[in-house]
Amino acid sequence: MAGKTPVFYIGATGYIGGSVLAKLLTDPSADTLDITALVRSEDKAAKLEKFGVRTVVGSFKDVALVERLAEAAHVVFSMADADDLPMMQAILKGLKQRHAKLGDLPILIHTSGTGILTYGQETKGMAATDVIYDDSDFEQIANIKPEAVHRNVDNAIFEADADGYCRAYIVLPGIIYGIAKNQLVDAGIQNPYSFGIPMLIKAALGRGRAGMVGKGLARWPNVHIDDVVDLYVVLYDAVVEKGPEGVDHGARGYYFGENGESSWADISRAVGLVMVELGLAADAEPTAFSDEELVKYFGSVEIGNYFGTNSRARANHSRALGWKPRYTTQDMLASIKPEVEAILRQQK
Ligand SMILES: NC(=O)c1ccc[n+]([C@@H]2O[C@H](COP(=O)([O-])OP(=O)(O)OC[C@H]3O[C@@H](n4cnc5c(N)ncnc54)[C@H](OP(=O)(O)O)[C@@H]3O)[C@@H](O)[C@H]2O)c1
Repeated sequence: MAGKTPVFYIGATGYIGGSVLAKLLTDPSADTLDITALVRSEDKAAKLEKFGVRTVVGSFKDVALVERLAEAAHVVFSMADADDLPMMQAILKGLKQRHAKLGDLPILIHTSGTGILTYGQETKGMAATDVIYDDSDFEQIANIKPEAVHRNVDNAIFEADADGYCRAYIVLPGIIYGIAKNQLVDAGIQNPYSFGIPMLIKAALGRGRAGMVGKGLARWPNVHIDDVVDLYVVLYDAVVEKGPEGVDHGARGYYFGENGESSWADISRAVGLVMVELGLAADAEPTAFSDEELVKYFGSVEIGNYFGTNSRARANHSRALGWKPRYTTQDMLASIKPEVEAILRQQK
């Protein structure tokens, strides 16, 4: 492994993390990477080793372990959790120690999400709002409130980057859709499913009719999992090719993942059409969830109402890196039928 870039990978068994790892392992640059993944399941760790990935069995809640593994890496992929501040603090502590001891300038690629843009845009589905965030508008990005979801973790990353001991890049996907297909899924290592649209589908199947929050008028961006994978690879390759200073980083290092947006009602209506087609509902038109249903299907009214927030994003910064997403909102709507069928198979 001499001469290879040491990489610490968190989230290798997840929907996003597994999909990106699967691509990195088949990328022409795969031979340059010495990847260590932190994995909770011993069984999955053993399977992952067969793909040439070193594994450490453990949880990212073990912050001493995370700190040690981060210190040992020149590149950290944080693909598991957009909200775990202690985990991120441990990563940053490890990177800071590495910088102090070796003079290395480590690279952090972290996964946040466009949920951050919902702050102040919560309309419970009764309206679309007109605030549209552009990831290349650094002033607009700087004004996102610290109270916004995910923002506490992102702010800790910005501070670390500004301190100068690492270079950090943050990917913020919108609603990711599509069932992941790759060698890690085939080997039973990776979760192939997203959660946003599948949650709406499970609720619809449970109540026998598609549902939405309020009138479903609020809007979110969407992006296909394969395009998300490409975004991480384009970003990582750009950092390698141009050097860490050649790519906007830290507070200027937000990269949205979106290739179109829709209302929540559009998504739910597509679910309804599939249910009618499969003989599971009489009417395709979604109706509003009651508070009781929000609790039953999403865990709480607050979580359920997330499906009635607005998150409006334009990924101009990501596109300027050379990212060319291929799938559109029409593809997102067409992806709902296979998702419904997969959930029905799981529920059998
Ligand atoms: N999917 C989307 O549409 C979307 C969009 C934007 C942002 N995001 C954000 O991206 C992040 C990842 O999402 P995802 O869809 O890839 O979720 P996921 O499929 O549930 O993957 C989560 C990953 O984190 C790992 N993990 C969880 N707790 C852990 C722990 N204590 N120690 C070690 N590993 C742990 C899981 O491992 P196990 O296999 O052991 O569970 C899995 O590898 C989340 O924060 C999510 O909010 C997701």
